Amino acid sequence: MAVPETVLTNRDLEAIVETSDEWISTRTGIKERRIAGERESTASLGLKAARKALGVANMFPTEIDLIIVATSTPENIFPSTASLIQNSLGATRAGAFDLSAACSGFVYAVEMATQSIKAGGIRSALVIGAETMTRVLDWQDRSTCILFGDGAGAVVLKASDIEGGVLSAVLRSDGSGGDLLCIPTVGSGDLRNSEFGMNGHAPGKMYMNGSEVFKFATRVIGESINQALDKAGIDIEDVSLIVPHQANLRIIQAAARSLKVEPELFMSNVERYGNTSAASIPIALCEAIAQDRVKPGDYLAFVGFGGGLTWAAMVVQWVDTRKAESIRVLAPQRRQVSYFLASLRANVLKATRTLSDLTRRIRPRRGRMLRLRDKVNQLDQ
Ligand code: UT7
Repeated sequence: MAVPETVLTNRDLEAIVETSDEWISTRTGIKERRIAGERESTASLGLKAARKALGVANMFPTEIDLIIVATSTPENIFPSTASLIQNSLGATRAGAFDLSAACSGFVYAVEMATQSIKAGGIRSALVIGAETMTRVLDWQDRSTCILFGDGAGAVVLKASDIEGGVLSAVLRSDGSGGDLLCIPTVGSGDLRNSEFGMNGHAPGKMYMNGSEVFKFATRVIGESINQALDKAGIDIEDVSLIVPHQANLRIIQAAARSLKVEPELFMSNVERYGNTSAASIPIALCEAIAQDRVKPGDYLAFVGFGGGLTWAAMVVQWVDTRKAESIRVLAPQRRQVSYFLASLRANVLKATRTLSDLTRRIRPRRGRMLRLRDKVNQLDQ
């Protein structure tokens, strides 16, 4: 995981909008969130998390076959954030694309990578959830700007003979609620009265109908986890940890009630990071691992919900594939060298392209000069 250093507390927010630490804490459980600095972006946070994930997996970037970045705040519409990260990593054998499923994006992306591996088309995938939500917030809207934060988390998935891994997934969508939680782009302003319009919400900014999304979230979490458990053939009693999307502590408590389990079964760090959309599940997973709450053989459930509307639940049996592999000599140092070479390669490729573009532009000018010289010669004669 990678989060920006700058912390924005509830007290800091009191100076920006009419709110209070007391309201935010009791209504959401959030105390503080991280804000991307001027030189930080979705790609830079995603890249940091990706490098750490490769380090943990003890793999080299050239061993990755596919990179998926789940994000609602991509660097561009295209090129994808995934392609930018692929280039910086030097993952020269990987395909790369962004996936748009809002706060459910990470679970969707893990399922896409899992199915590609199971089908045999690829052997490994890097799945990243990365967001700079604070760049799309309306800082005058106190009902949304207090909720979100920036960050990224990443995992590496790999084909393995060890039993376990992703056991089941349930992916769902209800587009009729699209305008309840949205970030319209420039073009959608023209669609105000069309079937696909977003009710004229301003482009480039996030809009949310909080209470409707709250009701939707509390309904789908329990429902989809139960469906994923059924598919995996296990019971809720077998699950040792649920890692939900971190939107609101009250949503997590309501989900615990609907599943008739203790709230402690749910991992929660919303207090420190707020809602980081597609990044929240991998960030929470990383912290759960750091807190020793995840052990090989454990059954885990992930559940995401948000814009689309979309929701997704997944059951995983945690396996550590590294144990089955031989030790790799000087792997961290070799990874550092490969990152340096990747940046060198990217710069050389860029310089070569600029040079060839320049010579292409100069050549016709030289042709014009020659034609002019011929004309002058003719006049002389
Ligand atoms: O990541 C995608 C998924 N997102 C979610 O799951 C978010 C789901 N929604 C929520 O978490 C909650 O609905 C919110 C935290 C957004 C809002 O909590 P709520 O308990 O549903 O509050 P509300 O919108 O019903 O508003 C209650 C009152 C209103 O005042 P009145 O009309 O009762 O006088 C709001 O104006 O609280 C007021 N309010 C605030 N007051 C102080 C709304 N935002 C604030 C604020 N500070 N920041």
